[in-house]
Amino acid sequence: MKIAVIYSSITGNTKKIAKAIAQEIGADLFPVKSPPKLQDYDLIFLGSGTYGNRPHQSLISFIKKTNLSAKKVAGFMTYASNRKGLDFLEALLLDKKAKIIGLWGTTSRIIFILKRSHPDKSELSSALIFAKNIVQKIKKS
Ligand SMILES: Cc1cc2nc3c(=O)[nH]c(=O)nc-3n(C[C@H](O)[C@H](O)[C@H](O)COP(=O)(O)O)c2cc1C
Repeated sequence: MKIAVIYSSITGNTKKIAKAIAQEIGADLFPVKSPPKLQDYDLIFLGSGTYGNRPHQSLISFIKKTNLSAKKVAGFMTYASNRKGLDFLEALLLDKKAKIIGLWGTTSRIIFILKRSHPDKSELSSALIFAKNIVQKIKKS
């Protein structure tokens, strides 16, 4: 199974998670500004930080212009205060008729105080559990 992890990360938090996920599940990693051809992939992870209660505009634009119909997709986001961005991502993916396998998010509240500490070990390990569960789901289906 070929898996792509595509991320938008302005301050680096989501990138750390995207890299860890890609390494754990043997996926190819791409910044959203240089995405791969999606038809080459069986499963796509899409990740972003939250900006104004939404994924970053670069990820929104990518999703809007991309054919995701029936594509297996998993979404992950980091945020400071709430999951509204994840809800926005879900609605966008539903609108594009993607097959959402799972969604996951983590708070990065302390980023403003201790910038280097997030995502911390436990956030990274729950991201990896999320990613492995997604892969298991696909393998079983
Ligand atoms: C300009 C700006 C706007 C943000 N807006 C939100 C927001 O609306 N809701 C939220 O929960 N977090 C918000 N955050 C926090 C980021 O989503 C959080 O730090 C995230 O981990 C950044 O991800 P990135 O480093 O991958 O870009 C904002 C941060 C910045 C710098």
